[in-house]
Amino acid sequence: MAKFDQEILKAELSVGEVAERSGVAVSAIHFYEEKGLISSRRNKGNQRRFKRDVLRIISLIKVAQGLGIPLEAIKNALDTMPKNRQPTGEDWQKLSKKWKEDLNERIAKMTLMRDQLNHCIGCGCLSLKECPLRNPLDKLSKKGTGAVLLE
Ligand code: FES
Repeated sequence: MAKFDQEILKAELSVGEVAERSGVAVSAIHFYEEKGLISSRRNKGNQRRFKRDVLRIISLIKVAQGLGIPLEAIKNALDTMPKNRQPTGEDWQKLSKKWKEDLNERIAKMTLMRDQLNHCIGCGCLSLKECPLRNPLDKLSKKGTGAVLLE
């Protein structure tokens, strides 16, 4: 094997190595790749080879999933990262800023729902018209009563 090929092999990881180092199942790695969150190349033996930075990306995916961020939003965020160089601290901060805003929005929404739950405990009507938990985003109610969309 040529020296250059050996250096590439050292710089890259097999799917098993990625699984071992990241603590993520091989099936999850395949799933992330299928969804376009991570990528690999095929070697001469048609085996996947991942760049080492895939470990950081997988860590980021796991953290984001833990925060309840949907995979599609994670992919959209990763798509904004530079492709031709290693992401800088500033790149990661831009990404985390967007997620922080989303997280704050969700926390505000969940807090409102929690407070509305106090009102609903003991009621149990779950009325589409009256219950804020059953119909929390009833924005159309502000436009009038009845079938607003049919008008
Ligand atoms: S359950 Fe009655 S108002 Fe929510």
